[in-house]
Amino acid sequence: MADFDVIVIGGGPGGYVCAIRCAQLGLKTACVEGRETLGGTCLNVGCIPSKALLHATHSLHEAEHNFAKMGLKGKSPSVDWTQMLAYKDDVIGQNTKGIEFLFKKNKVTWLKGWGSIPAAGQVKVGDEVHNARSIVIATGSEPSSLPGIEIDEKTVVTSTGALALPKVPKSMVVIGAGVIGLEMGSVYARLGAEVTVVEFLDAITPGMDGEVQKTFQRILGKQGLKFIMGAAVQGVKTAKGKNTVTYKLRKDDSEATVEAEVVLVATGRKPYTDGLGLEALGVEMEKRGQVKTDDHWQTSVKGIYAIGDAITGPMLAHKAEDEGMAVAEVIAGKHGHVNYGVIPGVIYTTPEVASVGKTEDQLKEEGRAYKVGKFSFMGNGRAKAVFQGEGFVKILADKETDRILGCHIIGPSAGELIHEICVGMEFGAAAEDIALTCHAHPTFSEAVREAALACGDGAIHA
Ligand code: FAD
Ligand code: NAI
Repeated sequence: MADFDVIVIGGGPGGYVCAIRCAQLGLKTACVEGRETLGGTCLNVGCIPSKALLHATHSLHEAEHNFAKMGLKGKSPSVDWTQMLAYKDDVIGQNTKGIEFLFKKNKVTWLKGWGSIPAAGQVKVGDEVHNARSIVIATGSEPSSLPGIEIDEKTVVTSTGALALPKVPKSMVVIGAGVIGLEMGSVYARLGAEVTVVEFLDAITPGMDGEVQKTFQRILGKQGLKFIMGAAVQGVKTAKGKNTVTYKLRKDDSEATVEAEVVLVATGRKPYTDGLGLEALGVEMEKRGQVKTDDHWQTSVKGIYAIGDAITGPMLAHKAEDEGMAVAEVIAGKHGHVNYGVIPGVIYTTPEVASVGKTEDQLKEEGRAYKVGKFSFMGNGRAKAVFQGEGFVKILADKETDRILGCHIIGPSAGELIHEICVGMEFGAAAEDIALTCHAHPTFSEAVREAALACGDGAIHA
């Protein structure tokens, strides 16, 4: 008899959610995690700590830039970096312990240690081999660097080092204007560091709506971030406490350098499957290192499944969680489903940036006729009251049917607002359905309704 119905390898958002759902569906479940705490990249060195630092430094920005405007005068707070890191660690601790509590509550066994799969149906942790009818690989991802760059996690860091620097640097070069680069770059710029972002492409946040990219870069520029665009980083040299980043401008191949106390390498992440023994098992892999799965998250080996950052698709915690729940349903003999067309993406800067569904570029490429309903936060009373009138909501809807195809928001609480559209898209809503829904005043959500109205007869406050 098998020791467990399911063993999940990895206790991140994919793995822990999968384990809890398996247990809730009546399966005897274990989760293997080698870190000292549960929660994976997301809770320990990703989503949660970065949002804690973004919150703290956003509060500082408000005190320094907006308090006096509201008649709140007096000394601005000074930064106690040690205390800020302690606050961040406390937030991590509360969250990771919360997962441990949920494991106990749902009777999920935590097998502490690094797991491998010696044979289908077996998971080895330390010296012990456990039998399981089904195995789920949820081992996540790790930062990927560039040739010519040696990461020491002290002055040449990935996001992990950037979340725990011993002091706030005077200057920072961020390589890569993606999500990590801009979130962490914002944190340090608000703390007073001179931040220069070096990006290979000509636009920040690749894949985002073009208008959002431009507006976002302009706003971040006003916040003090400098951008060197179209620049391929060649390497980083460290000497006498300074790092020199060499880059080549793509337009004319000219080489230049930029110096900084700390360099953050934020050029993407790669799947992490080291030590699992997948090659010996004959588990097929994608060209870029992800575990290959079928439509039901099963690998090429029967009974072994894979989810989250270790497989293809956006490397997002909520995508991993959705797959975790869905694969649990599949293993329990039910119908698991993930709608990959409606996975929101959010950048937690100020303003926030959020998007779901298709961009205009994608629709043009598909040759699909669409209409655009756009509304500026300048016409939203609540946004102006909190100094966030810059930005807009853009809804893309099918020209004929009015069905919502995508939405792109830059502005206050964009990461919350986007979900109205996600729910709408799940229900196959037309822009008119949003436009006809009463939205409370004064809320940021009214901007979403106005953008929906702009898909039809027109917005009111534009
Ligand atoms: P992971 O969270 O990476 O978890 C995998 C776990 O498996 C790890 O704990 C690892 O120790 C363990 N493991 C690996 N191999 C083994 C083994 N052999 N045995 C035992 N255990 C093993 N996403 C968002 O959606 N929103 C955000 O705001 C966000 N912010 C981020 C900020 C940063 C700085 C970073 C780096 C990432 C961020 N992400 C964010 C991405 C998010 O963290 C990942 O998409 C998510 O964690 C993926 O979940 P996962 O379960 O697939 O893998
Ligand atoms: P990313 O893929 O978002 O951005 C990497 C950037 O680096 C790209 O703009 C790319 O063009 C650039 N780049 C690559 N090589 C370069 C070079 N040689 N020189 C200059 N620029 C170069 O990757 P990032 O920011 O590291 O994030 C990794 C993952 O983590 C993402 O997939 C993201 O989904 C996830 N994440 C999500 C967050 C969120 O949801 N808020 C927050 C942080 C991370």
